[in-house]
Amino acid sequence: MGKWRQELEEAAWVLSKATRATAFCGAGISAESSIPTFRDPGGLWDQINPMEAGTAKGLLRAFQEKSDIIVPILMTMLDRFEKSEPNAGHVALSHLEKMGILKTVITQNIDNLHEEAGTNDLIEVHGNLFRMHCLSCGWKKKVDRKPYVQALRNRLLKIAVYDLDALISLAVECDQCGSLTRPDVVMFGEAVKSLPQAFDASIQSDVMMVLGTSGAVFPAASFPVEAKKAGAKIIVINPTENGFTHCTDIYIPMKAGDALPFIVEKIKKSTEKQI
Ligand code: APR
Ligand code: ZN
Repeated sequence: MGKWRQELEEAAWVLSKATRATAFCGAGISAESSIPTFRDPGGLWDQINPMEAGTAKGLLRAFQEKSDIIVPILMTMLDRFEKSEPNAGHVALSHLEKMGILKTVITQNIDNLHEEAGTNDLIEVHGNLFRMHCLSCGWKKKVDRKPYVQALRNRLLKIAVYDLDALISLAVECDQCGSLTRPDVVMFGEAVKSLPQAFDASIQSDVMMVLGTSGAVFPAASFPVEAKKAGAKIIVINPTENGFTHCTDIYIPMKAGDALPFIVEKIKKSTEKQI
């Protein structure tokens, strides 16, 4: 911590005064849960072309035409999703929420780890991989992450030819109407979820932590700019880059799983002293 102690202590002090802090999170906060990011070296977009496999149609086509490439990558991702657990960064955010400092987490991640870490006020702008959405009646259902991943992997292993019937066999059926469901996630070219709520939370913030995001994708990447314009202090935690230099008040080049617990402990100690 030594090298960035001053920035960490400043962030703790700013947050200790906050009552409506928000956190805007990207894949980096789940990196320490062994879920690969998208744009780091070796990340998901190094392995597959997002313009191909990042859209619903493209993914179906990639399965049929390039299953030898897509399926091994999917199997690795399923492995990570099965084994991952919320890390110290996710847990620190749930503690800040319980301390009455953090009001809302706005996340681009679809891995369900914020919820499993205990965060309640959560806006998932890119959806959630473990919430199924019926394509016919619109019904939605959360599934348990690990059993869902295991069942999906078993179905994939049984497929010999990746034709449309095989892909349909991977879908969870709707409890309401029996039609096909798909994971309730936002793929490229689809509308981002809860955008008004996310902008509202951003402009209401007195502090916004920007955690583990490259800021490569809009409109999500504009949340910190809107928060700053509305008077929030912006704290960026990212070990290798800061895509928000134009609006950053405190930049901490550390992993979220290292910096956030230190900040929470610092706040706890300072508030204990006051009691
Ligand atoms: N702690 C904090 N930040 C980290 C860590 C870590 N342990 N490890 C990596 N990072 C940072 C990287 O430096 C990088 O800036 O996390 C960021 C991850 O950036 P991306 O891979 O671009 O992920 P993200 O910002 O979430 O991408 C936004 O793009 O493709 C879409 O839908 C996808 O939601 C995603 C969106
Ligand atoms: Zn249905």
